[in-house]
Amino acid sequence: MKVTVLTISDRASRGEYEDLSGPEIQSILEESLPECGVSRLVVPDEADAIRKALDGALGEDWIITTGGTGISPRDITPEVCREFCDRELPGISETLRAESLKETPMAMLSRGYAGMKGRTLVVNFPGSLKAVRLCTRVLIPVMDHSIDMLRGHGH
Ligand code: MTE
Repeated sequence: MKVTVLTISDRASRGEYEDLSGPEIQSILEESLPECGVSRLVVPDEADAIRKALDGALGEDWIITTGGTGISPRDITPEVCREFCDRELPGISETLRAESLKETPMAMLSRGYAGMKGRTLVVNFPGSLKAVRLCTRVLIPVMDHSIDMLRGHGH
């Protein structure tokens, strides 16, 4: 399984803030799914930069983004990903929000999207370390099977 972890943050992309969430997703994935190959990228909250990173990762099995899902003026991750994808996968975003709500009411403020383009699955996680720990663990049980389904391999 090939996964690109895309951190979307102005401050992390300028080096003003260390990206902890991207490496955390990578280490949980590598520990839980030993066959998983993970690459990471950091981009600012700019539509062109996000689109370019998504395009570059097209063909991977999963693109997991972290950050930019909230309601501050520069949070545009869900809009750019929705436009990039050709089909939506609402069960994933609904579940991530529902599980996150058990951790904090602030989960209501995440507008994270999940969808797919061709054979690549795309999912948005919030930016915080706490959020990515939870969301990665919630996602892992469906990661393998959704790739098979997407490729038309059946059960
Ligand atoms: N979900 C979980 N599981 N844990 C969290 O700490 N933080 C929330 C929310 N979702 C959080 C969470 C907060 S404080 C915000 S503002 C939104 O995600 C959006 O975060 P983002 O803009 O970093 O994507």
